[in-house]
Amino acid sequence: MSDVLADIDRLAAQANAELSAVSDAGSLEQFRIKYLGSNGSIKRLPEMLKTAAKEQKAALGQRINAVKKEVSEAFEGRKAELSRQVAAGRDAMDVTEPGRRPMIGNRHILMKVTDELTELFARMGFSVATGPEVEDEFHNFMALNIPKQHPARDPLDNFYLACASRGGEPSALGTEMLLRTQTSTVQIRVMERQRPPIRVVIPGRVYRPDTVDATHLFMFNQLEALVVDHNVTMVDLKSTIMQFIRAYFGAGTRARFRPSFFPFTEPSAEVDVWFEDRQKWVELGGCGMVHPNVLKVSKIDPEEYSGWAFGFGIERIAMRKYGINDIRQFIENDIRFLRQF
Ligand code: DAH
Repeated sequence: MSDVLADIDRLAAQANAELSAVSDAGSLEQFRIKYLGSNGSIKRLPEMLKTAAKEQKAALGQRINAVKKEVSEAFEGRKAELSRQVAAGRDAMDVTEPGRRPMIGNRHILMKVTDELTELFARMGFSVATGPEVEDEFHNFMALNIPKQHPARDPLDNFYLACASRGGEPSALGTEMLLRTQTSTVQIRVMERQRPPIRVVIPGRVYRPDTVDATHLFMFNQLEALVVDHNVTMVDLKSTIMQFIRAYFGAGTRARFRPSFFPFTEPSAEVDVWFEDRQKWVELGGCGMVHPNVLKVSKIDPEEYSGWAFGFGIERIAMRKYGINDIRQFIENDIRFLRQF
């Protein structure tokens, strides 16, 4: 009898020792099968009762039950302890892991280019002016020598604003309002508030109902320039533009002036820059000598003063500078594109 009890004690001691060495779910399960499973050595202890002497059965049975209870409880305890350790491990901080740099945004490429341009022109003595994006007909057309019947005023080529409080009728200001189609409007606004000498650049958004493709958007940015002073000539215009192009794109950059027409300049020209990667000329925009009518509207005497102006597309400039080949990328907000700059 005492031998049998000693065997049971040994088995219990062995199970306890093994259980304390269990360190993961896999070995815990192996332990369960070995001792507590339907063929497990502890589970099968009651079989001993069959062969035991009658008077020993009670004591033996008690002992077996006690061992079973003890090992089962130890097993449950170990199991709970292990799952606590796993849960804690999930939240644990690995202090040796290298830090992750927080993502900080950067300025949009167009804003960067605009800054680069205004800084470059600042070095050439230009200050920066701005004006409203919602304009009246006077500043967008009339003052720029674009009369009432001019095709440039066609509703199909402009975003005219309907005035909701008047049931979609033109605004009560006695003028139609529209999203400006050109930053040339700000030439007028500058001349309204400032006398010559004038030397300004004007960056800003403009709007046209164009069909969007790789080189056109319905909203884009222009950089306008206006110089008004005594004895300002076409030579100043050409040399300033060439100076800008070479300073911004590189000394060897090829550019050309083509005769053109704008109502607010006379003579007028368009400026093309050679895009090396595309092997073709791309138009940056227009320029010319400020039309006497434009000076007159702004109460500047064309006999005393002359001026020149230009208006270039900032997206085009950015595309040439940074090798961007589709203008739509500027407004698609694709982080992979924006991150490159
Ligand atoms: N405003 C013209 C346009 O958007 C560009 C332009 C041409 C601006 C000649 C000028 C200029 O200042 O002198 O197409």
